[in-house]
Amino acid sequence: MDRYTSEQEKIIDSINRSVADLERVHALSDEDYAHCLEIFEASSDQRFGILNWLEINVLSQMSKGSNSILSIGCGTGVFDEQVLQNLIGRMEQIKYLGIEPNKLEAAEFVKRMHVKGVENTVVDSSVLVEKFRGRSFGKDFDLVLLVHSIYYLDDRNDAIDAALDALSPGGVLIIVVAPDESLNVIANLIWQRQMGHKSFFSDDLRLHFDTLGVEYSETRISANLNVTNCFNVLSREGRDIIDFTVQARTDLLPEPLQKDIFEFLLSISKVEAGKTYLPHPVDIFRCRKV
Ligand SMILES: C[S@@+](CC[C@H](N)C(=O)[O-])C[C@H]1O[C@@H](n2cnc3c(N)ncnc32)[C@H](O)[C@@H]1O
Repeated sequence: MDRYTSEQEKIIDSINRSVADLERVHALSDEDYAHCLEIFEASSDQRFGILNWLEINVLSQMSKGSNSILSIGCGTGVFDEQVLQNLIGRMEQIKYLGIEPNKLEAAEFVKRMHVKGVENTVVDSSVLVEKFRGRSFGKDFDLVLLVHSIYYLDDRNDAIDAALDALSPGGVLIIVVAPDESLNVIANLIWQRQMGHKSFFSDDLRLHFDTLGVEYSETRISANLNVTNCFNVLSREGRDIIDFTVQARTDLLPEPLQKDIFEFLLSISKVEAGKTYLPHPVDIFRCRKV
């Protein structure tokens, strides 16, 4: 079955041509990125699904002693804070290190993750404000998380190798990555223009793991993004969701391109009980170091 209708194919072609004609596509500023990310996440049930899976399949099985966790591309720490809260009281000591190049997000991470010892758990959290370049951390992390950050790394395959290398024996690497679904079509085109290289989806990760010959498991979680406000031109929140989806400030793009983007998003969305949703599945890859 064809993935897109001929009408959708036409819109994608038109977006592709318009993006190729753009002189430059500015990435979201650090401030806009941090803001749009949280509006986007708050409009989706995906984070909840990922955390639920992580709790059942990984966090509940970690040792009760001392654990070190590395979160690569930790953002503002909204996700990591939930992980930490889940672990407090279950283990004696938690060392939690975030890596985040966006200074605003990193500062927020520090605030959120600053928890003194509670319920007999000693917490030591910190952040490195830098890009993950696979620097050597030693091999002592019990859990390494890459939650929707793999796309942004300069060399994704090197980063995966470095993340695997940072694990202690028995440690677990979790990579949360989007499959190449319709929601990502526009970001993919914009990204190629902004960064000069393609984005990275589940297939690319699978290929790299297979090439390395490492064992892994993968789970698909279905989720929905509530985009009802996106089709209300007066809604700032709707704009922010689209801007995160596109990875650029849409109102700075030429009007015909904005129109194509709206039309494409509308064509892939579904209406249920008066609300408009975009399917927003995600894949969780788990790899245990032997
Ligand atoms: C989609 S956000 C995910 C944030 C967080 N993990 C979450 O799930 O809420 C991706 C994060 O990766 C960060 N990032 C971008 N380039 C990076 C790099 N080279 N190394 C590490 N993180 C990076 C971004 O600044 C952003 O905070």
